Amino acid sequence: MIGIFDSGVGGLSVLREIRKLLPGEDCVYYADNANCPYGEKSREFIIGRAREISEMLIGKGADIVVVACNTATAAAISALREEYSDPGKPGTGRKVLALSGGKRDHIKFIGMEPAIKPAIMMTVTGVVGVLATAGTLKAEKYRHTRELADGKVTVAEHVGQGFVELVESGITSGPDAEDTVRASLKPLLDEGADTIVLGCTHYPFLMDTIRKVAGPDVTVIDPAPAVARHVAEVLSEERKDVPLSSGKLTLLASGSDTFLKRFAENMIR
Ligand code: DGL
Repeated sequence: MIGIFDSGVGGLSVLREIRKLLPGEDCVYYADNANCPYGEKSREFIIGRAREISEMLIGKGADIVVVACNTATAAAISALREEYSDPGKPGTGRKVLALSGGKRDHIKFIGMEPAIKPAIMMTVTGVVGVLATAGTLKAEKYRHTRELADGKVTVAEHVGQGFVELVESGITSGPDAEDTVRASLKPLLDEGADTIVLGCTHYPFLMDTIRKVAGPDVTVIDPAPAVARHVAEVLSEERKDVPLSSGKLTLLASGSDTFLKRFAENMIR
């Protein structure tokens, strides 16, 4: 079973790509919406939540956990991998779990990576724009990824101010969405960015609005399809002898699940 989590509905942008590629896999999605947004929360807080949520997903039978949140990936994925890692690797393997049918003895964590690498290949102006949360942009993990661009292209960054709140209120288009998107996108376009990387899983739900504001000459990259392909690759390596499950989807939330279920109904089925 694949466990997936985010601070809210954002990770559904990753789940929908996973469902397209792996319709027969059982998935359990957890929205930590009682604590959304994560963007301005401390690293320690996010690591704590990521641990608790992963533990819960693993308890429900997940043997692969997708951290479908750039902010949580940047803050917590190293800690999670360290804790539930391959016992064969020296210096790791603190939590070795006996899982369903004894098929697996360690948990795979897959996280989000801002698509800076493909953006470097695509830009013509030599300026790549990154939209992400404040937490992602200040994280060491992101700074490390950003170094890929050093000496090759300029990277301009901006927080998608208010984007998460818009999506969590179910607003993905219209004048309010356009104004909010324009305020954060314009500084990147003004710097000459012709390729925009969406570094937060909520932002793909604003894709039409972002494309409208950016115009036809700008490429906008959603990393979710690449992450889903990675999940499929990992599963095909790990699951050779495990029978296909029924493709059941379970949606859970730390707060109310009403909006999550409605949003998922509209966006991924
Ligand atoms: N969707 C998340 C991300 O990818 C979190 C956004 C938030 O809660 O601030 O960063």
